[in-house]
Amino acid sequence: MLLHVRNVLTTAQVHLVRQRLDEAGEAWVDGRVTAGYQGAPVKQNQQIDERSAVAQELGDLVLGALEQHPVFISAALPREVYPPMFNRYSGGMQFGSHVDGAIRLSPHNGLKMRTDVSATLFLADPESYDGGELQIEDAYGVQSVKLPAGDMVIYPATSLHRVTAVTRGTRVASFFWVQSMVRDDGQRALLYDMDNAIQQLNNTGADIMARTRLVGCYHNLLRQWADA
Ligand code: NI
Repeated sequence: MLLHVRNVLTTAQVHLVRQRLDEAGEAWVDGRVTAGYQGAPVKQNQQIDERSAVAQELGDLVLGALEQHPVFISAALPREVYPPMFNRYSGGMQFGSHVDGAIRLSPHNGLKMRTDVSATLFLADPESYDGGELQIEDAYGVQSVKLPAGDMVIYPATSLHRVTAVTRGTRVASFFWVQSMVRDDGQRALLYDMDNAIQQLNNTGADIMARTRLVGCYHNLLRQWADA
Protein backbone atom coordinates (compact mmCIF):
# COMPACT_ATOMS: atom_id res chain seq x y z
CA MET A 1 0.00 0.00 0.00
CA LEU A 2 1.34 3.37 -1.06
CA LEU A 3 -0.19 6.15 1.04
CA HIS A 4 0.08 9.93 1.14
CA VAL A 5 0.05 10.97 4.82
CA ARG A 6 -0.79 14.66 5.10
CA ASN A 7 0.36 17.24 7.65
CA VAL A 8 2.84 15.15 9.59
CA LEU A 9 4.66 18.36 10.48
CA THR A 10 3.11 21.82 10.80
CA THR A 11 4.45 24.72 8.73
CA ALA A 12 6.21 26.03 11.86
CA GLN A 13 7.85 22.63 12.49
CA VAL A 14 9.02 22.39 8.87
CA HIS A 15 10.50 25.88 9.20
CA LEU A 16 12.32 24.93 12.40
CA VAL A 17 13.68 21.68 10.95
CA ARG A 18 14.87 23.42 7.79
CA GLN A 19 16.60 26.13 9.80
CA ARG A 20 18.45 23.56 11.93
CA LEU A 21 19.43 21.54 8.83
CA ASP A 22 20.63 24.61 6.96
CA GLU A 23 22.88 25.44 9.93
CA ALA A 24 24.14 21.86 10.33
CA GLY A 25 27.45 22.44 8.45
CA GLU A 26 29.83 19.53 9.06
CA ALA A 27 27.06 17.17 10.13
CA TRP A 28 26.24 16.82 6.39
CA VAL A 29 28.13 13.81 5.02
CA ASP A 30 28.21 11.76 1.82
CA GLY A 31 25.01 9.69 1.65
CA ARG A 32 26.93 6.54 0.76
CA VAL A 33 28.01 6.05 4.41
CA THR A 34 24.80 4.13 5.10
CA ALA A 35 24.30 2.49 1.68
CA GLY A 36 24.74 -1.23 1.16
CA TYR A 37 26.65 -2.78 -1.75
CA GLN A 38 23.56 -2.48 -3.97
CA GLY A 39 22.77 1.13 -3.15
CA ALA A 40 26.23 2.69 -2.89
CA PRO A 41 27.08 2.79 -6.64
CA VAL A 42 23.78 4.52 -7.52
CA LYS A 43 23.45 6.83 -4.50
CA GLN A 44 24.40 10.49 -4.89
CA ASN A 45 23.19 12.70 -2.08
CA GLN A 46 24.13 14.11 1.27
CA GLN A 47 22.73 13.14 4.61
CA ILE A 48 23.05 14.19 8.22
CA ASP A 49 25.46 12.07 10.26
CA GLU A 50 23.23 9.71 12.24
CA ARG A 51 25.35 10.15 15.38
CA SER A 52 25.24 13.96 15.36
CA ALA A 53 23.31 16.00 17.93
CA VAL A 54 21.20 17.61 15.21
CA ALA A 55 20.12 14.17 13.90
CA GLN A 56 19.04 13.17 17.40
CA GLU A 57 17.17 16.42 18.05
CA LEU A 58 15.29 16.55 14.74
CA GLY A 59 14.73 12.79 14.67
CA ASP A 60 13.02 13.05 18.06
CA LEU A 61 10.86 15.88 16.74
CA VAL A 62 9.71 13.73 13.80
CA LEU A 63 9.12 10.70 16.06
CA GLY A 64 6.99 12.85 18.37
CA ALA A 65 4.85 13.98 15.42
CA LEU A 66 4.45 10.40 14.14
CA GLU A 67 3.26 9.12 17.52
CA GLN A 68 0.36 11.56 17.38
CA HIS A 69 -0.61 10.99 13.76
CA PRO A 70 -3.66 8.70 13.56
CA VAL A 71 -3.29 7.96 9.83
CA PHE A 72 0.34 6.90 10.25
CA ILE A 73 -0.51 4.71 13.25
CA SER A 74 -3.47 3.07 11.51
CA ALA A 75 -1.65 2.45 8.21
CA ALA A 76 1.79 1.40 9.49
CA LEU A 77 0.84 -0.26 12.81
CA PRO A 78 4.36 0.50 14.02
CA ARG A 79 6.24 -1.77 16.35
CA GLU A 80 9.60 -0.05 15.90
CA VAL A 81 10.50 3.14 14.05
CA TYR A 82 14.08 3.62 12.89
CA PRO A 83 15.47 6.99 14.06
CA PRO A 84 14.50 9.37 11.23
CA MET A 85 17.38 10.45 9.02
CA PHE A 86 17.71 13.56 6.83
CA ASN A 87 19.02 13.98 3.30
CA ARG A 88 19.32 16.52 0.52
CA TYR A 89 19.88 16.49 -3.23
CA SER A 90 21.05 19.38 -5.43
CA GLY A 91 23.16 20.02 -8.55
CA GLY A 92 22.03 16.91 -10.44
CA MET A 93 22.24 14.49 -7.51
CA GLN A 94 20.00 11.42 -7.74
CA PHE A 95 19.52 7.97 -6.25
CA GLY A 96 19.17 5.19 -8.82
CA SER A 97 16.85 2.19 -8.59
CA HIS A 98 17.30 0.08 -5.47
CA VAL A 99 15.45 -1.83 -2.78
CA ASP A 100 16.08 -0.80 0.83
CA GLY A 101 17.97 -3.28 2.98
CA ALA A 102 15.71 -5.73 4.83
CA ILE A 103 17.44 -5.44 8.19
CA ARG A 104 18.91 -2.36 9.81
CA LEU A 105 20.89 -1.89 13.00
CA SER A 106 19.77 0.93 15.25
CA PRO A 107 22.56 3.52 15.47
CA HIS A 108 21.71 4.02 19.15
CA ASN A 109 21.40 0.55 20.65
CA GLY A 110 22.66 -1.74 17.86
CA LEU A 111 19.42 -3.75 17.88
CA LYS A 112 18.27 -5.26 14.60
CA MET A 113 14.95 -4.31 13.06
CA ARG A 114 13.16 -5.52 9.95
CA THR A 115 12.13 -2.83 7.46
CA ASP A 116 8.50 -3.45 6.47
CA VAL A 117 7.50 0.11 5.54
CA SER A 118 9.65 2.83 3.96
CA ALA A 119 8.81 6.48 4.61
CA THR A 120 9.84 9.79 3.05
CA LEU A 121 8.79 13.03 4.75
CA PHE A 122 9.17 15.96 2.36
CA LEU A 123 10.77 19.11 3.82
CA ALA A 124 11.07 21.42 0.78
CA ASP A 125 8.37 23.27 -1.11
CA PRO A 126 7.93 21.31 -4.39
CA GLU A 127 7.99 24.61 -6.31
CA SER A 128 11.49 25.30 -4.99
CA TYR A 129 13.22 22.49 -6.92
CA ASP A 130 12.98 20.62 -10.22
CA GLY A 131 13.25 16.85 -10.43
CA GLY A 132 13.67 14.93 -7.19
CA GLU A 133 10.57 12.77 -7.73
CA LEU A 134 10.44 9.62 -5.65
CA GLN A 135 9.46 6.95 -8.18
CA ILE A 136 8.09 3.76 -6.68
CA GLU A 137 7.31 0.64 -8.68
CA ASP A 138 4.20 -1.17 -7.53
CA ALA A 139 1.70 -3.62 -8.99
CA TYR A 140 0.03 -0.81 -10.97
CA GLY A 141 3.21 0.61 -12.53
CA VAL A 142 5.52 3.44 -11.51
CA GLN A 143 4.10 5.98 -9.06
CA SER A 144 5.83 9.36 -9.09
CA VAL A 145 5.67 11.16 -5.75
CA LYS A 146 6.58 14.76 -4.91
CA LEU A 147 4.68 16.18 -1.95
CA PRO A 148 4.22 19.48 -0.11
CA ALA A 149 6.65 20.17 2.75
CA GLY A 150 5.34 18.48 5.90
CA ASP A 151 3.62 15.63 4.02
CA MET A 152 4.91 12.05 3.90
CA VAL A 153 4.61 8.99 1.69
CA ILE A 154 4.76 5.48 3.10
CA TYR A 155 5.17 2.42 0.87
CA PRO A 156 6.16 -1.23 1.17
CA ALA A 157 9.88 -1.52 1.83
CA THR A 158 9.91 -4.37 -0.68
CA SER A 159 9.39 -1.87 -3.55
CA LEU A 160 11.99 -0.98 -6.15
CA HIS A 161 12.33 2.82 -6.03
CA ARG A 162 14.57 5.75 -7.04
CA VAL A 163 14.91 9.52 -6.70
CA THR A 164 15.26 11.37 -10.01
CA ALA A 165 17.99 13.97 -10.54
CA VAL A 166 17.47 17.37 -8.92
CA THR A 167 18.24 19.88 -11.66
CA ARG A 168 17.30 23.12 -9.82
CA GLY A 169 17.16 24.01 -6.15
CA THR A 170 17.49 21.55 -3.27
CA ARG A 171 15.31 18.64 -2.29
CA VAL A 172 15.38 18.12 1.48
CA ALA A 173 13.63 15.21 3.18
CA SER A 174 13.54 12.96 6.19
CA PHE A 175 13.47 9.21 5.60
CA PHE A 176 13.15 6.17 7.83
CA TRP A 177 11.72 2.69 8.11
CA VAL A 178 9.09 1.00 10.23
CA GLN A 179 8.98 -2.52 11.55
CA SER A 180 5.26 -3.11 11.65
CA MET A 181 3.35 -5.29 14.10
CA VAL A 182 1.81 -6.76 10.93
CA ARG A 183 4.54 -7.94 8.59
CA ASP A 184 2.41 -8.54 5.48
CA ASP A 185 1.56 -5.47 3.39
CA GLY A 186 -1.76 -6.93 2.18
CA GLN A 187 -2.91 -7.63 5.75
CA ARG A 188 -1.92 -4.12 6.83
CA ALA A 189 -3.83 -2.61 3.89
CA LEU A 190 -6.93 -4.61 4.78
CA LEU A 191 -6.81 -3.49 8.43
CA TYR A 192 -6.34 0.13 7.35
CA ASP A 193 -9.37 -0.08 5.03
CA MET A 194 -11.44 -1.65 7.77
CA ASP A 195 -10.40 1.00 10.30
CA ASN A 196 -11.42 3.74 7.88
CA ALA A 197 -14.78 2.09 7.23
CA ILE A 198 -15.43 1.85 10.98
CA GLN A 199 -14.61 5.56 11.43
CA GLN A 200 -17.07 6.41 8.64
CA LEU A 201 -19.78 4.29 10.23
CA ASN A 202 -19.12 5.99 13.58
CA ASN A 203 -19.47 9.41 11.95
CA THR A 204 -22.77 8.50 10.30
CA GLY A 205 -24.26 7.00 13.47
CA ALA A 206 -24.78 3.51 12.01
CA ASP A 207 -26.29 0.72 14.12
CA ILE A 208 -24.30 0.46 17.35
CA MET A 209 -24.36 -3.33 17.69
CA ALA A 210 -23.23 -3.85 14.09
CA ARG A 211 -20.40 -1.36 14.66
CA THR A 212 -19.40 -3.09 17.90
CA ARG A 213 -19.18 -6.44 16.10
CA LEU A 214 -17.15 -4.90 13.30
CA VAL A 215 -14.72 -3.32 15.78
CA GLY A 216 -14.46 -6.78 17.36
CA CYS A 217 -13.58 -8.26 13.95
CA TYR A 218 -10.87 -5.61 13.49
CA HIS A 219 -9.27 -6.42 16.82
CA ASN A 220 -9.58 -10.15 16.35
CA LEU A 221 -7.87 -9.94 12.95
CA LEU A 222 -5.16 -7.77 14.48
CA ARG A 223 -4.78 -10.32 17.26
CA GLN A 224 -4.29 -13.09 14.68
CA TRP A 225 -1.79 -11.18 12.58
CA ALA A 226 0.07 -8.88 14.97
CA ASP A 227 3.44 -9.61 16.46
CA ALA A 228 3.42 -7.00 19.22
NI1 NI B 1 15.66 3.74 -0.65
